[in-house]
Amino acid sequence: MPVSGPPTIAPSLLAADFARLGTELEDVMAAGARVIHFDVMDGHFVPPISFGEVVAKIVAPVVHDGGGVLDVHLMVERPEERIGSFAAAGADRITIHLEATRHPAAALAAIRATGCSAGIALNPATPAASVAELMDDIDLVLCMTVNPGWGGQAFLDGSLAKIRQLADLVHGKAELIVDGGVDIDTVRGCAASGATTLVAGSAIFRARDPQAAYLELCEAAGVSARSAEPHRA
Ligand code: DX5
Ligand code: ZN
Repeated sequence: MPVSGPPTIAPSLLAADFARLGTELEDVMAAGARVIHFDVMDGHFVPPISFGEVVAKIVAPVVHDGGGVLDVHLMVERPEERIGSFAAAGADRITIHLEATRHPAAALAAIRATGCSAGIALNPATPAASVAELMDDIDLVLCMTVNPGWGGQAFLDGSLAKIRQLADLVHGKAELIVDGGVDIDTVRGCAASGATTLVAGSAIFRARDPQAAYLELCEAAGVSARSAEPHRA
């Protein structure tokens, strides 16, 4: 899957006001967002529990009706057990953590078998080179730039070097997603280092005006909001 062009800003629903989830989602999509990031936490791989298939199934039609893709990031133990249920709930992309499964290649093949794009996520302590042997199995690499589990954390120093290493490794063969601490100060460096998708939660949904915040991030990343179409695998 060749990947090129300007980066995409992907709002992360984890930071949305869950009491107004539909409105929050529709607002960012009206502003141009077409990749919607959906963080699933199980209380084991990471301490918090966020949301799961039940909420994905409610959100997915809204995302699809707006011409978007639902980008599911599974921060769960034994992610292979949840691939079918998230695909059935409407996921378009499913990313699992390398640290959470013993057989990543099999899990990634199972994701592709559902028709979804398959992604592998790396915690900050996991070296970039870990994905080298999996390049034929993946459509997406997700580089965690905070330790997973919580929104609103500061972008980890040293992450830009890792993004550059991953960009060299994937080199147009997969999307490179950066996740954690992306805001108006860090977004440029991530884009310049080779990221193709930039996930932003707090920087969008905790802003006074989420639509304006989304558009500012797009501008800072060098992409016009209206050209922020998703890269479909
Ligand atoms: C963290 C999640 C992120 C989170 C990012 O474990 O994977 O997707 O929503 O939140 P911000 O943008 O607030 O760092
Ligand atoms: Zn995430």
